[in-house]
Amino acid sequence: MTARIIDGKVIASELRARVAAEVARVQREHRLTPGLAVVLVGSDPASQVYVRSKHKQTQEAGMASFEHVLPADVAQADLLALIARLNRDSSVHGILVQLPLPKSIATETIINAIDPAKDVDGLHPNNAGRLAGGFAALSPCTPLGCIILTKSVHASLEGMNAIVIGRSNLVGRPLVQLLLNENATVTIAHSRSRDLALLCARADLVYAAVGKPEMVRGDWIKPGATVIDVGINRLPAADGKTRLVGDVAFQEVSEVAGAITPVPGGVGQMTVACLLVNTLRAACAIHG
Ligand code: GUN
Repeated sequence: MTARIIDGKVIASELRARVAAEVARVQREHRLTPGLAVVLVGSDPASQVYVRSKHKQTQEAGMASFEHVLPADVAQADLLALIARLNRDSSVHGILVQLPLPKSIATETIINAIDPAKDVDGLHPNNAGRLAGGFAALSPCTPLGCIILTKSVHASLEGMNAIVIGRSNLVGRPLVQLLLNENATVTIAHSRSRDLALLCARADLVYAAVGKPEMVRGDWIKPGATVIDVGINRLPAADGKTRLVGDVAFQEVSEVAGAITPVPGGVGQMTVACLLVNTLRAACAIHG
């Protein structure tokens, strides 16, 4: 079998176009321009790339984009003061603090300071708790993207066996909750799980989000399964540059799976598109 490639680029671009059309409508009908504030602390090159991409795509969707870049040695009190200001600012409907933060800053304190109604990352305990309770909540963007990609293959996930490998607050844990809300049967695995191959063997849906290059192998996968690769790992390439690989051994797995996301061009494309969806949702909810 050769797996169908799930094209995150195309699906994300369609989603962004739908968001842009809806932004134009709320501007026309409610004189509301959704606004997203992104806060970057320090100069990590990968984070700079993400923040630039968020800024560009937010503007292209017709929303206001506010970028705040602070030095790596910023005092935690100053970062908290900025967040308090953004919480009060009525032109800002979504606040995202790019992670990871420098070690001198307590990430949990910062996330807790964001107004839950503006928490477009879905990381505030109010939103994480609401999601876990099965209530409507702003949910983390990458897991939302994973669900949309899966639904491009399967209209309903009800009763399917899913395995989520990875238990981070940003991806694994919220993804488990979203899959439960879709009535899937979910196995949660992680880097310390024993016999991952055996755990994967029954899965109709495999989500790899552990940050280990090409860890998921072809002989782990049930023939015809859908495989969603959340990993973005940079490996040295022969030409001295780096190449991006996921957490899934793409060649091997694509010979067994029914559908698979590539890296790049899969999940990564969806994260920012879902951030725009969350910002629009937050703006409409705040506006009433
Ligand atoms: N760093 C990598 N991915 C993300 C994300 O989705 N949100 C935030 N805030 N930081 C990230």
